[in-house]
Amino acid sequence: MTGSTRILVTGHNGYIGSVMVPLLQCAGYEVVGLDTGYFRGCTLGASTTSVPAISKDLRAIEPSDLAGIEAVIHLAALSNDPIGNLNPNWTREINAEGTVRLAEMAKAAGVRRFLFSSSCIMYGMSEASVVDETAPLAPQTEYARSKVVAEEALRAMADDRFSPVYCRNGTVYGFSPRMRFDTVLNNFMGSAFTTGRVEVHSDGTPWRPVVHVEDVARYFRLMLEAPRGDVHNEAFNMGVDSLNLQVREIAEIAAEAVPGAQLVLMPQPGADQRTYRADFTKFSRTFPNFEFRWTARKGAQDLYQALCSIALRHEDFTDKRFTRLRWLNHLLETRALDDNLHWQIEQQNVA
Ligand SMILES: NC(=O)c1ccc[n+]([C@@H]2O[C@H](COP(=O)([O-])OP(=O)(O)OC[C@H]3O[C@@H](n4cnc5c(N)ncnc54)[C@H](O)[C@@H]3O)[C@@H](O)[C@H]2O)c1
Repeated sequence: MTGSTRILVTGHNGYIGSVMVPLLQCAGYEVVGLDTGYFRGCTLGASTTSVPAISKDLRAIEPSDLAGIEAVIHLAALSNDPIGNLNPNWTREINAEGTVRLAEMAKAAGVRRFLFSSSCIMYGMSEASVVDETAPLAPQTEYARSKVVAEEALRAMADDRFSPVYCRNGTVYGFSPRMRFDTVLNNFMGSAFTTGRVEVHSDGTPWRPVVHVEDVARYFRLMLEAPRGDVHNEAFNMGVDSLNLQVREIAEIAAEAVPGAQLVLMPQPGADQRTYRADFTKFSRTFPNFEFRWTARKGAQDLYQALCSIALRHEDFTDKRFTRLRWLNHLLETRALDDNLHWQIEQQNVA
């Protein structure tokens, strides 16, 4: 699969999609987006690329939405644990059932490759020191469970004509026009930049694989173009070992990237101790020529430059538009969204 292929990118108006779509367009792909636009107005700094798009809830797609599509990159989801805890049904319906329905329609429409944006979080609190793709899945949250359920259902659909691929991402960071400050390194950087402090509310020992959003966009392209035999019905932990870091190291990197910033350790009982250290051997063995362009240190320095160029203010950093849970809560409280997370009022009117 190469440029000029028509591909559907769901969730194209999100944090990752807003970086991925221009990269795919530059590579010659004809991109069609599909997004309900929960975060459409949540932009920071740079303008977003426009793309022909279907403005629709994933739960309402129809076979005609897939007409002429050759591959799907499926990013659309409620994208973290706190939203899953708010109402587990939404995460089940959108992330698991919505994915299965989309994949069934895609397969029926003749889509050959279906890239599913999954997560290393499905390994849960692993006892094993490192987890490869064969490690038992121990999802601890509704969000993590939704990724497991979706992967299992997609696996059963794989055949000669339909190749699902399970891209298990670490925690993504880096600048995006639809910025999130609710992922670990982005949050530390925003705090370092606007307060001069990076606070770690745990003992800092849990492991997190982190990956730069531009490398994420690049490896999804790699997965589109890889020979079918390398990726058909395969799960990959997406990364390299140097991207496995302890939260304390991530905080140090953020503090070092921002001149004058200080690291403050504030261990608290009951702090988030989820830990998983991903084994990336399968990815590097299958794709020996793919290079991750960003180390966490280099990526943090680049993010610092991006935050300087938009002169990020503290009120931007703490604005609800850049924390997924808070923004969805705002849409619910203002009745822009109903109790099933469907729009009640015109999206243009939502400030
Ligand atoms: N960002 C990370 O650190 C990370 C890590 C691992 C996996 N992932 C996965 O990657 C994908 C993209 O993540 P992101 O950070 O860009 O998330 P995001 O929240 O920024 O974007 C998700 C997009 O999906 C759309 N969406 C949500 N529900 C929808 C629905 N019912 N119908 C149509 N569109 C809907 C939203 O409007 C949004 O534009 C998600 O599947 C997420 O689970 C992200």
